Amino acid sequence: MLYDNLAVNSRGHLTIGGLDAVDLADRFGAPLYVLDEDQVRANCRTYVRALADYMPAGSYPLFAGKALCFKGLYPVLEEEGMGADVVSPGEIYTALAGGFPAGRLYFHGNNKTDEDIAYALECGVGTFIVDNHNELDRLDEMAGERGRKQKVLLRVTPGIDPHTLQAINTGRIDCQFGVPIETGQADRFVRAAVGKANLEVMGFHSHIGSQIFEAEPFCDAVDILLAFAQRMRENYGFTVRVLNLGGGFGVRYTENDPVVDIADNIRQLSEHLKAGCKALDYPVPQVLLEPGRSIVADACVTLYRAGGVKTIEGYRSYVTVNGGMTDNPRYALYQSAYTVLPAGRMRDEADFVCTVAGRCCESGDLIQENITLPRPERDDLIAVLTTGAYNFSMASNYNRLCRPALVMVKDGEARLAVRRQTFEDLIACDL
Ligand code: LLP
Repeated sequence: MLYDNLAVNSRGHLTIGGLDAVDLADRFGAPLYVLDEDQVRANCRTYVRALADYMPAGSYPLFAGKALCFKGLYPVLEEEGMGADVVSPGEIYTALAGGFPAGRLYFHGNNKTDEDIAYALECGVGTFIVDNHNELDRLDEMAGERGRKQKVLLRVTPGIDPHTLQAINTGRIDCQFGVPIETGQADRFVRAAVGKANLEVMGFHSHIGSQIFEAEPFCDAVDILLAFAQRMRENYGFTVRVLNLGGGFGVRYTENDPVVDIADNIRQLSEHLKAGCKALDYPVPQVLLEPGRSIVADACVTLYRAGGVKTIEGYRSYVTVNGGMTDNPRYALYQSAYTVLPAGRMRDEADFVCTVAGRCCESGDLIQENITLPRPERDDLIAVLTTGAYNFSMASNYNRLCRPALVMVKDGEARLAVRRQTFEDLIACDL
């Protein structure tokens, strides 16, 4: 199996965190997101421990809520010692509703409106990650009006290409996030920021991309950031105390993806950082990381019911499922690979080549192409693995489909964490 928390039981059914997928779908309906809480916790611990073991005191991971955001997740994150990266007032609201401490929130976004800034200040968000000059000026004014001295990190772009998908690569110079170092603009950004009376500049943030499998691109970013930090110390007497290196370690969607040793990558990164600081005689800053995908992706399985098989003679066979791009838009958007399993017939021979299609009125609504399954019957359960990140959070109500429920599994028990939407929910805002 792709992950240790998945197995096949004596009935030939897929189990997730020890629970039978067929039973879960019978009890909670389908489509269904099944999130293994223990796996989420284990993933958090990998980061928390590695950062504590290898990086300077005060280093810790922030969960990137853009990957998955619902109220019931935040108590788990807090218990595991995580901070949280939030990117909108809605994410702030959700985290706080889940009891998460505002001081451990890091507020991102390349276009924070005045309302967003006011809301975050009033909630007491610990750190703003300032994206641009505009925001810097507004935040300074608004913090001043409230008699606050607001902690900030400055988002800079080191211009690294970690050889990942262009659509999810945000560390290049030419992008709408942060201020580039290479063009000299980040220098002016720092100069302006350190002169602000109501802001306390803690350091820099950079995010080079997503689904990265090794330490090397992060080490390259550290080289650029340290050289920049050194210049800023010389020019403005500003010393970086916190370095936030963003998110990005990858996960295994299929057997073709490598296994990432996250702890070892963090160890390599820490050695690189410490050596770099030593060479410049620079105090080693605290390190923050913002993993999203690698905390939740492998902890979740989506369960669907098959509708039937439609064979286009001379072309291919489609297996339809009762969800699709509304609950998982990642194949439609990025042609992302996934592992698809016949959750109720795991011991049957998978000899039927097919394309799994969703139920939306859109030819691009596919979940995966050219995979093999035992030829599905109507109502067979189809499982898609590794759906914890950027599925639930990117879901929509296209075609007025109700969003699926999300169930959390722990210690052999399942509990509903997000209920399935109803038709009333669909028209709740319609006047
Ligand atoms: N921090 C920042 C500033 C980010 O922009 C991101 C992701 C993360 C952290 C978390 O990165 P992760 O650890 O999850 O790789 N929708 C796309 C992914 C977009 C990623 C955007 N930023 C997908 O489904 O693949």
